[in-house]
Amino acid sequence: MKIRVATDSDFNDVFLVEKDAFGYDKEANLVKDLLSDASAKPLYSFLAFNNDRAVGHILFTSACIEGSQDGASISLLAPLAIIPDFQKQGIGGKLIDYGLQHLKNSGVDFVFVLGHPGYYPRYGFKPAGVQGFEAPYPIPEEHANAWMVQELRPSVIGSVSGKIKCADMLNKPEHWRE
Ligand SMILES: CC(C)(COP(=O)(O)OP(=O)(O)OC[C@H]1O[C@@H](n2cnc3c(N)ncnc32)[C@H](O)[C@@H]1OP(=O)(O)O)[C@@H](O)C(=O)NCCC(=O)NCCS
Repeated sequence: MKIRVATDSDFNDVFLVEKDAFGYDKEANLVKDLLSDASAKPLYSFLAFNNDRAVGHILFTSACIEGSQDGASISLLAPLAIIPDFQKQGIGGKLIDYGLQHLKNSGVDFVFVLGHPGYYPRYGFKPAGVQGFEAPYPIPEEHANAWMVQELRPSVIGSVSGKIKCADMLNKPEHWRE
């Protein structure tokens, strides 16, 4: 299994992996929109390959804290997709770890995700609401733990808080229903 940065010429693979993983094309179209969304930059897109076949994709897009002049570098993980035949083989975890290492090396301070609270904490994510970070759209109380954060630079959490503003194409209520 090989993981590398996805380039423009990988777009067909990215689209097909997203569509196959989810079983419909909502996330594939979201990724397409985000790739050409100026407010999503810098973005980080990675593909996982089994031999030469693309089997997994992960995308991180830029975010910020509304009204903050703090200048913290923030990314948001969405979506993560592994095609059905390759799920539950650890590829999702490897893509998360690979992506986070790359973001860390690129100077990103912290990363948010709205996802399953039984999955992402395995890779270092913790509930974000209790740390003072509000999601772009309200998360129902019963799903509060699905809104998570991870710091990539020690001690940045606690020094900032507020409402997270995501890229324009992600900033729609339908992307914030867990
Ligand atoms: C969710 C997904 C990315 C996980 O990737 P993966 O490579 O299959 O996951 P890993 O092999 O790293 O981890 C597997 C473990 O995660 C668990 N897991 C997988 N999907 C899960 C989910 N939605 N909720 C909770 N746990 C989940 C598995 O049960 C398994 O647990 P185990 O180790 O105790 O058996 C993948 O299944 C997928 O693409 N699903 C469809 C699209 C999707 O839901 N994406 C995530 C939302 S953005």
